[in-house]
Amino acid sequence: MDQTEKPSFFITTPIYYVNAAPHLGTAYCTMLCDVQARYRRAAGYDVKFLTGMDEHGQKVAEAAEAHGMTPQEWCDSQAPLFTGLWDELEIANDDFIRTTEPRQQRAVQRLWERMRESGYLYKGSYDGWYCVPEETYFTENQVRKSDEEHECVGQHLCPDCGRPLERVQEESYFFKLSAFQDRLLALYDEHPEFVQPDFRMNEVRSFVEGGLQDLSVSRTSFDWGIKVPFDDKHVTYVWFDALLNYATAVGFADETDEGKAEYAKRWPAQFHVVGKDIIRFHCVIWPAMLMAIGEELPEHVFAHGFLTVRNSETGKAEKMSKSRGNAIAPADVVERLGVEGYRYYFMTDVTHGEDSAISFERMDQVYNADLANSWGNLVSRALNMSAKYFDGCVPELDGGVLDAESPLREIAQGIEGRYAERMDVLDYAGAKDVVMELVHAANHYVEDSAPWTVAKDPARAGELKVIISHLLESIRICAHLFAPIMPETSAEVLRRMGLEAEVECEDLAAACAWGGLKGGVAVTKGDALFPRLAQEK
Ligand code: ME8
Ligand code: MG
Repeated sequence: MDQTEKPSFFITTPIYYVNAAPHLGTAYCTMLCDVQARYRRAAGYDVKFLTGMDEHGQKVAEAAEAHGMTPQEWCDSQAPLFTGLWDELEIANDDFIRTTEPRQQRAVQRLWERMRESGYLYKGSYDGWYCVPEETYFTENQVRKSDEEHECVGQHLCPDCGRPLERVQEESYFFKLSAFQDRLLALYDEHPEFVQPDFRMNEVRSFVEGGLQDLSVSRTSFDWGIKVPFDDKHVTYVWFDALLNYATAVGFADETDEGKAEYAKRWPAQFHVVGKDIIRFHCVIWPAMLMAIGEELPEHVFAHGFLTVRNSETGKAEKMSKSRGNAIAPADVVERLGVEGYRYYFMTDVTHGEDSAISFERMDQVYNADLANSWGNLVSRALNMSAKYFDGCVPELDGGVLDAESPLREIAQGIEGRYAERMDVLDYAGAKDVVMELVHAANHYVEDSAPWTVAKDPARAGELKVIISHLLESIRICAHLFAPIMPETSAEVLRRMGLEAEVECEDLAAACAWGGLKGGVAVTKGDALFPRLAQEK
């Protein structure tokens, strides 16, 4: 299909602060989006998958200073850690935005002009609390309430993350967020699907119902940010800058013909995928900003939970984080499970709305049970038997071999529809169950039909052909359905079956219809796709 006729699908990750190297949590969100992007490409969408780095603000400036670099030098030195990790983890993003790029500079300055014209901007002064690790303002009230909860004396702690707050007093521009309460509540009523999963909506709604404060959107006590075009003592508050990246990357404030066409085609985004820590920014402030300047709102904000690690001192599960220094490096998991095992574990065994404790033990279990013993084993058995009984080839598919009845053919009926229903709502665990049902059935089918016995009897040659070709056809379909999660091994399975041309799929429903197997082509047995991990690991 011509790219221009395909529907657009625009999906984004948060842009990550450049304060330390990315970790399992950072990679987790990026991977959630990658799987969705790959699935949508296969389902026939023209996809734009955006990720990037959030380079301005106090937190990044402080990290740079701690390393004896200018903020720009620091960001430039860190960028390869992010892009390099995305390459290693098979993240196929279409764009990588950095907020220090000229396109963002231009877009943010346009935002200021539009805000000023809108009447929702005024100059004042901010006097209150600020959490640097979260780059968030807190009112006296919020801080007092949290002090009572934490029973803390002396130091005031962030109500969200529990780390020490700073007192900030400075001249500042304010965005009249308070004016948007009714319109935001109306948005949540009219579009309950705006916030996903749906249980997150309550939190967002009650926050807005509790009343909104105007938001300080510029800073004057430091200068690492984008200058306010009409008042150059001020730099843009890092979130006011960062949120706009999503629009910048699809041509907001780009006056070229291509820029305008891109914006018309891509905006609004279908999905902003974010962690639950930044849900208010995405579900309250960002839509209000867009309302203020008269731009369309994104369709969905999907909030995932945290990967947690146990704090060895307190024994409590805490969020894995760059600034807390408790992060596990992705390389440790890659070394253990391989990239595709890594992807499979995080995408299918972690419930995407909830917090999840990471355990190496569980990783090994899932890998061995699902990948080594079930999926990998099925592929190697079926390819071996095909090669052995059919002269190194897939059986010839004459005489309606694939039309014969079999339990596999039955399960494969409508499988893509059942899978798509789960994938569409980012329920990858549910989608995996749909595929694994066929994998398990196929392994049972091997046992039940005992092809090694059938092969001994020349009178049962037709039966053997049915068994082997139904196994291969099931494998072909599973490879397509697993491809968004495990792109390389799925491609390898298809190649081993002589189906190289099917690897770049753009019509998943057609690809998964029973009957696509090619008969009589050579099969490659190859090495084990998922070698079993030793128990004691
Ligand atoms: O908030 N488990 O950037 P950030 C799961 N720059 N996901 C995690 C995680 C964990 N333990 N830790 C981080 C910012 N994440 C802003 C965003 S967007 C316009 C600006 C993921 O570097 C999760 O998706 O703190 C979280 O929301 C994001 O990283 C925050 O990354
Ligand atoms: Mg953070």
